[in-house]
Amino acid sequence: MRDVAIIGVGLTQFGENWDQSIRDLFAEAALKAMESAKIEKVDSLYVGSMSSGLYAYQEHLGSLMADYVGQIGVPAVRIESACSSGGQAVRMGFLDVASGMHDIVLVGGVEKMWDVEDGTFVLATAADQEYEVYNGVTFPGLYAMMARVYMERYGLTREELAQVPIKNHKHGVNNPYAQFPFEIDLKAVLSSSMVADPLRLLDCSPITDGAACVILCPLERAKEFTDKFVKIRAVGSASGPIAFHDHKDLTRLDAVKLAGERAYKMAGLKPEDIDFVEVHDCFSIAEILVAEELGFFDYGTAGKAIAEGQATYGGKIVINPSGGLKAKGHPVGATGVAQIVEAYLQLTGQAGKRQVSNARFGMTQNMGGSGGSCVVHILEAM
Ligand code: COA
Repeated sequence: MRDVAIIGVGLTQFGENWDQSIRDLFAEAALKAMESAKIEKVDSLYVGSMSSGLYAYQEHLGSLMADYVGQIGVPAVRIESACSSGGQAVRMGFLDVASGMHDIVLVGGVEKMWDVEDGTFVLATAADQEYEVYNGVTFPGLYAMMARVYMERYGLTREELAQVPIKNHKHGVNNPYAQFPFEIDLKAVLSSSMVADPLRLLDCSPITDGAACVILCPLERAKEFTDKFVKIRAVGSASGPIAFHDHKDLTRLDAVKLAGERAYKMAGLKPEDIDFVEVHDCFSIAEILVAEELGFFDYGTAGKAIAEGQATYGGKIVINPSGGLKAKGHPVGATGVAQIVEAYLQLTGQAGKRQVSNARFGMTQNMGGSGGSCVVHILEAM
């Protein structure tokens, strides 16, 4: 396999983008990425999107986007794996370049979530329809059950759980693309409306419109285009049971563990080598469970460690310097690519006030549903 580099990135503003359609969002991010990589033509294109059909009544995104960004003729397909669609699209782009099939590959993710009234129903199509959704449970309810078991088992308090979104909003203040770039305090979290006990509004990632794109090429060619590039050191992907009742333990996310182990093995690295990680904090409890599965903290300890400041600047590892899904926003199909964009900016020293100093290795973890799929990337500064 060839080594693969990221040579350009592009992001739209995350939030309520009423004046942009799904193709406008994708095109903005794609053209920014192509401009930053100083390229005009690509050889192949992947689009991650969870549910463009239900959210924007638009399928067939591969060809649509290739046409709209002036690349018609190239192989172009959409990749779907619920909320991990974006990260899985990056994995497909990586394989495309690594295999030698194509040299310049555009990978994007997009979701236009605000145009439909019942977004919760659309998200719930990624859960088990027969056993979960039919019985009335959607994602906030599933993650609330994980939180309940974890808090009961490990003695995590409601106040400690609140420190996850408080920390992520603090990071998000320095992200100009974030949907909610403001700080929140304990009182705000604990008095926000109840969504699914014990999770409140400020424990939940929001509904977001947005797109993110990256340009990949063989590492040996990266310098032809730019001096700002990073290497994709490793990728690990795994599937897990979609249905929550099939999880062996309600506080464990086996697909995250497997994907992480595969990425560490491919990279020849350990958790201690990673300087920062962008994790899939769709709900406060998710960041805690994922941080444990990726080996940054022992089981049962991540909640308290995050509350004690171990996951921010000056701590053991910086988790979600971008603000995470909570503060930056969560346009589901775009999220995995946006995580890669953040890692690229950090590793090329372009992250501004949220820069993690001397970062050499950055990790991204993107997850579908309540752990039904996961993809982990490790990026390396060059
Ligand atoms: N953080 C901060 N503020 C938020 C917020 C969030 N996560 N979500 C909404 N708000 C704000 C809104 O901006 C709005 O403020 P305003 O009144 O000043 O305009 C207010 O809170 C109410 O927002 P609204 O969108 O009407 O809330 P809602 O009750 O319809 O939806 C959730 C809130 C949490 C239910 C919804 O965002 C949700 O379903 N999130 C989870 C998404 C999800 O499951 N993703 C997939 C994960 S696997």
